[in-house]
Amino acid sequence: MLTANEIRDSFVKFFESKGHQIVPSAPMVIKDDPTLMFTNAGMNQFKDIILGNHPAKYKRVTDSQKCLRVSGKHNDLEEVGHDTYHHTMFEMLGNWSLGDYFKKEAIAMSYKFLTEELGIDPEKLSVTCFAGDADAPKDIEAFEAWKNAGIPEERIYFYGKEDNWWIAGEEGPCGPDTEMYLDTGKPACSENCQPSCNCGKYVEIWNNVFMEYYKSKDGIKKLEQKNVDTGLGLERMAMLLQKVETPFDTELFKPVMEELEKLEKIDDIKSRRIVAEHLRSSIMIIADGGRPSNI
Ligand code: ALA
Repeated sequence: MLTANEIRDSFVKFFESKGHQIVPSAPMVIKDDPTLMFTNAGMNQFKDIILGNHPAKYKRVTDSQKCLRVSGKHNDLEEVGHDTYHHTMFEMLGNWSLGDYFKKEAIAMSYKFLTEELGIDPEKLSVTCFAGDADAPKDIEAFEAWKNAGIPEERIYFYGKEDNWWIAGEEGPCGPDTEMYLDTGKPACSENCQPSCNCGKYVEIWNNVFMEYYKSKDGIKKLEQKNVDTGLGLERMAMLLQKVETPFDTELFKPVMEELEKLEKIDDIKSRRIVAEHLRSSIMIIADGGRPSNI
């Protein structure tokens, strides 16, 4: 059974072996980007490189980024404790191509990492690709890459912008994405049960974004270079690989959950999860330079 530390290590070492530079997580509190208050994705620290404003020191990088999703476009605050696996703060494992490889290579590496390094049964994987619209075409390249990697056509789904397009805020670099889902083995909710239905059978485990566009108030345009931006949630992966019900049952939260159980005032499990989760986020925000206030 892999611990979260082992999953994190195996991720960055796998990508290091594929020519990626391991870099540290950026702070979660952002000081120099008026479009974002907190780091909400691994790509934030590479935004200027993706936009072509700065040359890339390394064209392939990998890291584990502390992310906080409490406001704006990506806000999971209300989900914490109510569903079993959302957090406000989580670690996002990512690999980036900054003007280097693109869809084919990214997808082949994702498949290899999941099936060979983590030992996930390929039969349990489904993937989704962008269906296309006026901004960008149907992602046949991603579809072909998945087929070549070993995912049969019947487990490759096409969805629209709502599911298969990613942008950090209201404007910025963006593009179609392809998402990987693990079949948890729970019963299907209907005959038409599929990754998009959120019934709990399929859990999203990884997202590869193909950032080749920039969206502003004036519309969408192509970036100078093609980039890959990926995100795999560490806590969720630990939960799935350890076959426990929630990330609160992994070693990442268990010691805190056990202490909270001793406090009789917090007498229901949902509240304990919320307290454990928000404690961790608050500590990490303070460590990164944020200060509590009542404003
Ligand atoms: N930036 C992408 C995400 O956060 C990978 O899902």
